[in-house]
Amino acid sequence: MKNNYYITTPIYYPSAKPHMGHAYSSIVADFFARFKKINGFKVYFLTGTDEHGQKIEKASIDAKMDTLEFCNKISKTFKDLSLKLNLSNNDFIRTTEERHKLSVEKLWKILEKKNEIYLSKYSGWYSVSDEAFYSDDEIIEKDNEKVSKISGSKVEWVEEESFFFKLSKWQNTLLDYYEKNPEFIRPESRRNEVVSFVKGGLKDLSISRKSLKWGIKVPSNNDHVIYVWLDALTNYLSALDFKSEDNDIYKNFWPANLHLIGKDIIRFHAVYWPAFLLAANISLPKTIYGHGWILSNDEKMSKSKGNILDPLEIIDKYGLDPLRFYLLKEVSFGNDGNISKEKLENCINSDLANNYGNLCQRVISFTEKNFDLNIPDEINLMDQDKLILGKFNKNFDILVNSIDKQDINFYVKFLMDTLFSSNKYFNDEAPWNKKDDKTRLNTIVYVSLELIRRISIIIYPIMPKSSLNALKIFNIKENEIDFKSIKDDNFLKNIKKINKIGILFNKITND
Ligand code: MSP
Repeated sequence: MKNNYYITTPIYYPSAKPHMGHAYSSIVADFFARFKKINGFKVYFLTGTDEHGQKIEKASIDAKMDTLEFCNKISKTFKDLSLKLNLSNNDFIRTTEERHKLSVEKLWKILEKKNEIYLSKYSGWYSVSDEAFYSDDEIIEKDNEKVSKISGSKVEWVEEESFFFKLSKWQNTLLDYYEKNPEFIRPESRRNEVVSFVKGGLKDLSISRKSLKWGIKVPSNNDHVIYVWLDALTNYLSALDFKSEDNDIYKNFWPANLHLIGKDIIRFHAVYWPAFLLAANISLPKTIYGHGWILSNDEKMSKSKGNILDPLEIIDKYGLDPLRFYLLKEVSFGNDGNISKEKLENCINSDLANNYGNLCQRVISFTEKNFDLNIPDEINLMDQDKLILGKFNKNFDILVNSIDKQDINFYVKFLMDTLFSSNKYFNDEAPWNKKDDKTRLNTIVYVSLELIRRISIIIYPIMPKSSLNALKIFNIKENEIDFKSIKDDNFLKNIKKINKIGILFNKITND
């Protein structure tokens, strides 16, 4: 299955409308999905909503709505956002769907049959907001309330009959797996965090709630509802039709190549999820990447601070592609990053309008004035031309490998360096002074156009729509974009004429 690639976003809680943090996870996942697609992979890209559990039940009660109707309403806002973000997802899963319920039941039954589950009593701390159990040493007192040291969310004491998963028995197997598969948890800092958590000792995990009704019932005991995280994590299998015995899509795409998640939910994905899978004898996903947080004006977004950034508002004001570009370029991938309107405007003006947009416009209008938009055909590559094209080719191979390590920062740097050197090339070679040397004039314009073509392809996973707009210069359509021809110095020789295009990015002026 070498050429298949399965990538997932976290499934979002439809407890309130989506914010910038959710948009970030989805945009990053879309970047990888599109990159892999133009690199010749068959991609399955999944996103969706996580609709069971106490958190959602409570939100629906607060909204005075029937819980399913509430989920229908908010889940739709997430689905609409995925369209607005121009995600290339193949599927949008909702955990209230029948296909999901059947998969969760199937996984439960496998675990039960393998004797990985037992009935006992849970007494301990629970955070509804995180849908997580915490041990005593993970709790602190803040403003006269018990809260989780890890997330800061309020916890409550729970005592009830519960089914348990034998998590403790998987401790050494997990540690061994992390050791042998360094790419399993990324980045390194998250990996270290998980390893030390597991080394600290794993207790068996409560995986059912008796006091809750909103969820999937335990098949063998209808008084219990399955723990929402066991339910939610299974979405990655349900979407591949795990419930059926003969399922080609599952055979082709499982194990997932990349579960992209935020750092706050690494424990669920890198400890519980692989333990469930090991226990059920199902192969493990290749990589779990925990990205950082998006801060709003350097602070964590929260309702009380009133600084929650609405992606829709930003998109309506500045457009989608500038937002995608900003999040991928300005947030160092793996770390927390900040977004503010001021920084976004700077980025639009300097990187997009002045740098990329301007390069395209200058070269097109020069080609129009001097060649009537024809691509010059008699060319003779000199050292400086070979150097810039050769440098691109050499670094491009490194670029492709870097994405297998989720190194978006390298990708963006490669793009910005290429843009910088292409602008510099056009300025330094100054074709406007070469009108007496026809071959030289031809060559400079040819190479500049060729660089624009390459840059616009590299830009596709970041800003698909702008990339396609720019590629109209060469009549290249979406299904024709691929990395195979990117290094072909002769590509433009098969295209006789370029097209004029409109301004790619408007500058933001605040007067
Ligand atoms: N429903 C669970 C995930 C289940 S996956 C099997 C959940 N949902 S969530 O809606 O609370 O969060 C979804 C994702 O958004 C998480 O990866 C979380 O890290 C991310 N973000 C939420 N706020 C964020 C920021 N401010 N910045 C970046 N991402 C953050 O957890």
